[in-house]
Amino acid sequence: MAQIFPKWTNKAPLYSAVGAGLSLIVVVGLVWYYASPWYTDVGYRPIQPVPYSHKVHVRDLGLDCRFCHTGVEISPVAGIPPTKTCMNCHNMILPESDRLAPIRESFKNGTPMQWIRVHKSPDYVYFDHSAHITAGVGCSSCHGNIAEMDVVAQFKPLSMGWCITCHRNPDDFLRPASEITNMTWTPPANQAEFAAKQKELLDIKAPVTDCTGCHR
Ligand code: HEC
Ligand code: HEC
Ligand code: HEC
Ligand code: HEC
Ligand code: HEC
Repeated sequence: MAQIFPKWTNKAPLYSAVGAGLSLIVVVGLVWYYASPWYTDVGYRPIQPVPYSHKVHVRDLGLDCRFCHTGVEISPVAGIPPTKTCMNCHNMILPESDRLAPIRESFKNGTPMQWIRVHKSPDYVYFDHSAHITAGVGCSSCHGNIAEMDVVAQFKPLSMGWCITCHRNPDDFLRPASEITNMTWTPPANQAEFAAKQKELLDIKAPVTDCTGCHR
């Protein structure tokens, strides 16, 4: 009787078992690698088209974060200010500065500035600024002391492990609404008491094991 399958197919189940085992190892390895703190962009610090300095505008001039990042309390996205926000001052202040030439150009032509994005979560991750700000998590807990940065650098890994570590126990990161943009806030002595009250008052529940909380 003629053979329907060539002889090597006798080993096919073995090959596919080994193959399945290997791909499982690869998948586990990839998840472990990408979700771990080893795969991060901490320190990522691109050079921007205009040398805008948070140190000058926040620390020295005293501007609040929300003056420019107007979406942060009301929407998922903090937002980068439009050129008009800069020109409100810079039509009078340093109107001849070479460093501000791209800003004047952008304003004159109505073409938005091409700022380079520093912090970026993958598309399959859902992040919402307003939920965190409303709960009392301040900018510096996630972005570091921006007021001391001439050039913005990424301060935390933005990895799944990082998100979940805080979600599991956010107590040390909850502050009164008045301190949200304070870049040097540290938990006071009665922090545990404040955190307990805040969690009850605002019914704070951050997703930990609920995957769809962050992957929608
Ligand atoms: C005068 C306007 C202005 C103020 C005030 C301001 N920023 Fe910004 N911010 C910008 C601009 C413009 C950029 C984009 C250029 C850059 O990254 O430096 C930016 C970028 C950022 C980024 C990086 C965005 C990204 O691409 O990931 C963070 C984080 C940030 N700001 C946080 C803050 C915080 C926190 C404060 C308050 C302590 C603040 N900013 C105050 C204008 C402002
Ligand atoms: C509230 C007013 C105000 C706003 C709004 C403002 N600036 Fe400024 N900016 C200043 C002042 C004042 C200085 C000068 C600081 C110094 O050197 O003493 C300055 C300095 C600068 C410089 C340095 C210029 C040079 O030649 O040294 C740059 C670049 C700059 N700003 C960019 C921006 C950008 C981009 C925006 C919008 C995102 C912006 N500024 C918004 C007030 C402002
Ligand atoms: C709980 C952590 C956390 C807090 C608190 C937080 N951020 Fe962010 N921020 C992030 C993450 C994560 C991203 C990247 C989001 C993405 O790619 O969708 C980001 C991105 C940004 C960006 C660039 C993208 C955008 O949304 O416009 C700006 C600007 C910014 N943050 C400003 C602020 C300011 C200002 C505050 C405080 C008022 C603040 N952030 C508080 C975690 C945080
Ligand atoms: C420093 C602490 C802290 C960090 C870091 C943090 N979170 Fe949160 N997050 C919270 C707290 C507190 C809440 C609870 C808000 C509430 O229940 O009102 C929350 C709530 C959320 C929610 C639910 C919001 C809603 O609308 O239901 C999502 C989604 C979320 N976080 C995503 C993330 C992601 C993604 C990251 C990492 C990139 C992250 N968080 C990092 C503290 C943090
Ligand atoms: C608090 C928010 C949060 C929760 C809850 C969460 N994740 Fe994530 N997850 C993230 C973030 C943020 C990343 C992106 C990490 C990075 O960019 O390094 C991520 C990445 C991943 C990745 C890696 C994808 C890749 O391409 O590397 C997998 C897989 C994943 N999550 C699965 C899950 C599963 C399964 C659950 C439920 C048990 C879960 N996540 C719950 C925030 C969360």
